[in-house]
Amino acid sequence: MVPSTGSNKLKAAVFISGAGSNLKSLIKFSKNKKSPIFISLVITNNSKAKGLDFANIYKIKRKIFNFRDKKLAEKKILLELKKNKIRIVCLAGFMKILSKSFIKNFKGKIFNIHPSLLPKYKGLNTHQRALDDNEKYSGCTVHYVTSKLDSGKIILQKRVKINKKDTPETLAKKILKQEHKLYPKALLKVFSL
Ligand code: GAR
Repeated sequence: MVPSTGSNKLKAAVFISGAGSNLKSLIKFSKNKKSPIFISLVITNNSKAKGLDFANIYKIKRKIFNFRDKKLAEKKILLELKKNKIRIVCLAGFMKILSKSFIKNFKGKIFNIHPSLLPKYKGLNTHQRALDDNEKYSGCTVHYVTSKLDSGKIILQKRVKINKKDTPETLAKKILKQEHKLYPKALLKVFSL
């Protein structure tokens, strides 16, 4: 049984690289009584990530790790996660690929959100590729993280209609809006009793 209320919430870390809008939505969700997680750490590879501002605003501890030496960065992150007794890792726009040996420390407890209907359009430039293929729909996916890029078991997906006038930017904006709802919903699905 996984406790999901009050001080029994699972301690989570969110990993970001950029704007952090998913981080913001996860923080807001985590304040909800129903949330199974409590965010106590924000990790980034990018000292200029705008999303770090949200960590500041909500007084959440933030840590920056240089990935020039990935092995060393992962080692340091793992120590930090252990020190803070983190049980759950949410990747939210984190643009580095974590190694198999890192991921195995959080088997079944590390999640990612991706802006496509996986298994379609793994990796980068998802919106441009969906438009180039004249897809009628794209969307977003929350999935478990495995060592293979964007390939772990799917938890939830949300479909978003592509209009003729959509550009990569308008599509990204529409999908992002759905991502903010999907990530909390997926965590509720995984941890509901
Ligand atoms: C989101 O669209 C997220 O799905 C995507 O980066 C964006 C981050 O936005 N992630 C990936 O492409 C991972 N493969 P945010 O920083 O505003 O949350």
